[in-house]
Amino acid sequence: MTSETEFTPNGENTRLLRDAFGRFATGVTVVTVGHADGPVAITANSFSSVSLNPPLVLWSAHRAARRFPYFEAAEHFVVHVLASTQQELCWKVAGDAYCLRGQGMRESALGAPVLDGALARFECRRYAAYDGGDHVIFVGEVLQASLREEGQALAFFNGDAGTFARDT
Ligand SMILES: Cc1cc2nc3c(=O)[nH]c(=O)nc-3n(C[C@H](O)[C@H](O)[C@H](O)COP(=O)(O)O)c2cc1C
Repeated sequence: MTSETEFTPNGENTRLLRDAFGRFATGVTVVTVGHADGPVAITANSFSSVSLNPPLVLWSAHRAARRFPYFEAAEHFVVHVLASTQQELCWKVAGDAYCLRGQGMRESALGAPVLDGALARFECRRYAAYDGGDHVIFVGEVLQASLREEGQALAFFNGDAGTFARDT
């Protein structure tokens, strides 16, 4: 049976809006920035490619997040597209373990913190930041991109993460 409920912007049913947003299946990324406190990370599914020329991507960050100031201050950020084998990392970084100091992360040639094992990686310089209501939309110019030829994507849908698989 299918049912449909509606959101009206009266502030009462934001749960429905959140759930409706969650019906949009996405991949999952971890975005990292360097800081004197150590590398800081956030799990983000708001990532999107934007432009090939110039090469631009975007993601949005919740202003109220404790870790938001690190991302607001950073001139560079690295977007890691997670593989299905990285589900543990997805939840770990979404939780309290967002400061990755002492976890043996290496630095890219551009000096940004890099996690191994991602399906693709985009090293970005902040190009623009836009007001997005309770979020800030960060647009990054891709200075360097790399990818793995093999591996399944980690997909996110309706609050759950799982492996993306083609219909056969
Ligand atoms: C799959 C997934 C996707 C998420 N996407 C975003 C996102 O795009 N932007 C964002 O600000 N937070 C996102 N979050 C929430 C953050 O990863 C993190 O849980 C949140 O910043 C925690 O708040 P804190 O910084 O106050 O600890 C996502 C969480 C999960 C599990």
